[in-house]
Amino acid sequence: MIAAVGATPDALLDTFYGVNCLLVIKGMRAFADQPNLLVRLSQLFGDEVEDYRQTLTTAINIHPDVPQILVISNISPAVPRIPALPTPPSTANGMLPVRFPHRRGWHTDQSFRRPPPDISLFYAETPAPKGQGQTLYADGIGAYEALNTETKTRIESLEGLHISPGKGRAEYSVKAGEKPMELAQNERPQPLVRMHPVTNKRALFLCEAGQMDWVEGPIVDMEPGINGDGAKLIYELMAHYTAPEFTYIHEWDAGDLVIYDNRSTIHTATWYDAETVQRRMWRTTVWGNPGPLYDGELRSWIAQ
Ligand SMILES: [Fe+2]
Repeated sequence: MIAAVGATPDALLDTFYGVNCLLVIKGMRAFADQPNLLVRLSQLFGDEVEDYRQTLTTAINIHPDVPQILVISNISPAVPRIPALPTPPSTANGMLPVRFPHRRGWHTDQSFRRPPPDISLFYAETPAPKGQGQTLYADGIGAYEALNTETKTRIESLEGLHISPGKGRAEYSVKAGEKPMELAQNERPQPLVRMHPVTNKRALFLCEAGQMDWVEGPIVDMEPGINGDGAKLIYELMAHYTAPEFTYIHEWDAGDLVIYDNRSTIHTATWYDAETVQRRMWRTTVWGNPGPLYDGELRSWIAQ
C-alpha cells in the first residue's frame, strides 16, 4: 500500500489538504510489525521527518529500532504522560466535553520551537478502550474564517509567547506560585495567525495553559499575566476555536492513523485508566515548511 501511495502521493496529499488538514486512515495494522512503513508514509508529507535522538527527547520515549518514532505510552519503559483526573463532567446534553475551558490541554505539537513543525502522524499500536484516551482535534482554518472582521483585524499582527511545559510559566504554575525558569532560546513568539503554505488559507495558531507563557505573555505587547488582557484574548479565541462546529473526537481502534497539521489544527487528549489499561501510541513529526512568516529562519533550538 505504501509503495503504491508513494508512487503517486498527490491523491493522498490533495485529500489531506482538501479537508483542512486532518485525515483519519483506518486499518494500518501492518505498521505494528513494520514501523518503518510509518516513516515512509510520513516522508510523503515533507522533506524531513524528525529524528528524536537529535532533539533532546528522553531515550526511553523513542522507538528502539526506528528513531523517528516517538512512543507515547504507559507501558514500560516509556514514561507515561496521562491527562489528569478529574476528567471534566459531561456537558448538559451528556456529551464528552470538548470546548475550552471546560476541556483543557489544547495545543499544537512543539509550538515552543520556532519555526514549529508542520505535520504529525499519530498511530494507535495499542489504543485505550473506547470511551477513554480519545484525541480531540479542532480546525484552525474553519475557526479563523468564522471570526468577525473586527477580530481578524485585531489579531492579524499579534504574536503569542509559546513555552515548553514544566518551566514554571504555565497558567497552572503561575496560579500555584511556582518560580519561573528563564526562557530558552527556542521559546519565542509565534504569530497568532498563520498563512498555511500549501492551502494559502489563514489559520489560528495558539495553545493554552501549559504551552503559553503566562508570566511575560501569553500575548506579546499586551497586558501580561493570568488576569491580563492577553489572557482574556487567549480565553476568547480558544473558546471560539474549540466550539463543537470546529472539533472532532477520535475514538481509537488498533491500526488507526490520524494525520494532523500543526500549522492549522490543535488537539488534546482525554484521561484513561493507566492502572488497568495499557496504551501505546506512536508519533512521527514532519518539518520544513512553516510558511512565509518564517522565511529564512534558522532553527532556534539548535545551537548555530
Ligand atoms: Fe500533542
